[in-house]
Amino acid sequence: MSRKKIIAGNWKMNMTPTEAVALAETLKPLVGNEDADVVFCVPAIDIIPVVEAVKGTNIKVGAENLYFEEKGAYTGEISASMLTDAGVSYVIIGHSERREYFAETDETVNKKVLKAFEHGLTPIICCGESLKQREQGITIDWIRQQIKIAFLNVTEEQAKTAVIAYEPIWAIGTGKVATTEQAEEVCAAIRQCIGEIYDGATAEAIRIQYGGSVSASSAPELFAQPDIDGGLVGGASLKADFGRIVNYNRNA
Ligand code: 13P
Repeated sequence: MSRKKIIAGNWKMNMTPTEAVALAETLKPLVGNEDADVVFCVPAIDIIPVVEAVKGTNIKVGAENLYFEEKGAYTGEISASMLTDAGVSYVIIGHSERREYFAETDETVNKKVLKAFEHGLTPIICCGESLKQREQGITIDWIRQQIKIAFLNVTEEQAKTAVIAYEPIWAIGTGKVATTEQAEEVCAAIRQCIGEIYDGATAEAIRIQYGGSVSASSAPELFAQPDIDGGLVGGASLKADFGRIVNYNRNA
């Protein structure tokens, strides 16, 4: 079985609505690749204008977060139904920046994953180890724990459609990309863990991205690995380079 690649940009806290539309217009003609699903994960305030700007293209729009309650007195938060109504199809959950700066835990990640599925949103579930954990040799144990908690009460049918992003924290925004071997080793371990939680068919179906300083030059080798099904791209998703990353299999 072959999985379709999924290449997503995570714009993080960049781009005003005006800038976001301009960037979407710049990238639109550059990110056609029928071998890959293409997603722009944008700040909440940019969602509506970007959805409008990419109408009629292959680009899907994702959010960078949601809240796990249905609705109500949660000042400042954004619900799953707000996202779907605005035209969002994907949502990043548990990015390491949210875990570090906004106190997200494996438990809140799990609640958000369940809420996303309940509303038909595809979660891009982030996991990743710190440099200290890698040096201590506990990377795989740590990631397995993150994955097991993130998928609590997620059904097999839901899990098959999920996206996992393996993002070593030490590789994010540092220009220090994991080696192909390091990235493949962890993505393969994640797939094995999914196989243990569910079964072989679910492990085969789920898509696992690598994230962390992905560039036009590192993407082709990374995405050619058997267990790496694309990337979650930060800095390089804000530039025309993203077009080259999406077309990783056509670069000269
Ligand atoms: P960079 O590509 O800027 O390292 O960011 C990776 C990331 O955090 C994507 O979610």
